[in-house]
Amino acid sequence: MANLKDNNWSSKLGFVLAASGSAVGLGNIWRFPYLVAENGGGTFIFLYFLCSLGIALAILLAEFTLGRMLGQNMFTAFNNKTGRFLLNGMPIVVSTTILSFYFVVCGWIVFYFVQSLTGQISYSTNDSEYYNLIFKSLLASPFILTLCTCIFIFLTIFINYKGVVQGVERTNLFLLPMLFIILIIMILRVLTLEGASEGVKYVFSFDYNYVTSKALMAALGQAFFSLSIGIGTMLIYSSYVKKDYNLKSSATYTVLIGSGIGIFTSLLIIPAVFAFNYDPNSGPGLTFITLPAVFANLKFGFIFAALLFLIMGMAAITSTISLVEAAVPALANLFKLTRKQAILCYAAICVVISTIQGLAFNKFSGFTIFGKNTFDFAGNFSDYLLTFGAFIVCIVVGWILPKAVAINEVTNNGTVPFKLVKVWLFILKYIAPSVIIIIVSNMIFKVL
Ligand code: TRP
Repeated sequence: MANLKDNNWSSKLGFVLAASGSAVGLGNIWRFPYLVAENGGGTFIFLYFLCSLGIALAILLAEFTLGRMLGQNMFTAFNNKTGRFLLNGMPIVVSTTILSFYFVVCGWIVFYFVQSLTGQISYSTNDSEYYNLIFKSLLASPFILTLCTCIFIFLTIFINYKGVVQGVERTNLFLLPMLFIILIIMILRVLTLEGASEGVKYVFSFDYNYVTSKALMAALGQAFFSLSIGIGTMLIYSSYVKKDYNLKSSATYTVLIGSGIGIFTSLLIIPAVFAFNYDPNSGPGLTFITLPAVFANLKFGFIFAALLFLIMGMAAITSTISLVEAAVPALANLFKLTRKQAILCYAAICVVISTIQGLAFNKFSGFTIFGKNTFDFAGNFSDYLLTFGAFIVCIVVGWILPKAVAINEVTNNGTVPFKLVKVWLFILKYIAPSVIIIIVSNMIFKVL
């Protein structure tokens, strides 16, 4: 495995921002607001925080600990063929499954960004039907879908190709603060709209009736996905970490930034939708169909729309580079490639798979797996894979790794105080695996 060894983050901030960049993505900006709208506003946010801080944070810290401990040799840990194949195959399969649909949504973003900026989508009518038609006609055009998706793949691969520090770290260092600033400006504009306060109230409301098993499952799934847990992204990112970094605070910052951006985006989207009496409950179409209609009510609406798609693209790319980063060392190791060769091979794989996924909406729409088109199937299947990955991390750190070794690594050989270390291990050993088992059985057997 040539030239993978010299990759180390150049600063602690670089690491935290890269991990946060991986976390902040379509999960927070596209999915979180509609889950909040669907599951009772503030109630869902509360459940999400419970899952993030109670379980996901512990698993994230376990990934960080394991990743730094194993370092960049983690993929060569097994000498026998089957072991190596499984160890390397897993991150490739999971990354590719997620990226196959993720890149398609990124393609939509490219389309909407360009069309909003160039005036092709006119923000002069607030009739949702017009925006609905635009979305439908996009899904019906294989060529445009493929083109837009490939543009995004190209941008992603370009960053990975430049390297961990020059490419990945720098991009995050620049994009994440920018994203935050644009988001704040947009929120301030929206909050001054008449009627927006109802939306804010909704975002912070709490209603016991919404505490259902369905909402709890959605909150946990969202916590895993939005914190990039369970596939190895965070393992790889932490294998580039130097021995003196404080893993515990890095994990905490990552969770706070990841969840924070989700809440901020909800504060942008939900009040805007409330202010003009649209239905916030429009599911995945919320950002692509409802919001454009909302923006049409604003002066210079097209600028707001373009800005929204810009920050979505920024958030998405910091995640796609992390997903590519998870697959690349495994691919390099499996086929004895250099980092750059592996990146180019992976780019080709992504182009093929995402193009097929784009066709799920038009040419291949008749093809279904378990009654779902391949796009939806990949989304659901990746939930299982992530949960399975998270389970393995809990078992390895909670049960297999000697306690002293885990504690030494997480506290940098006792130099970093960690008062809750016992609680952390307890969560990993008992709580997180039990919760995962309950959830998976519920997903499969629908028992609750
Ligand atoms: N967390 C990202 C989001 O919210 C997606 C993502 C990036 C991811 N890397 C991951 C999800 C690894 C699961 C595992 O959009």
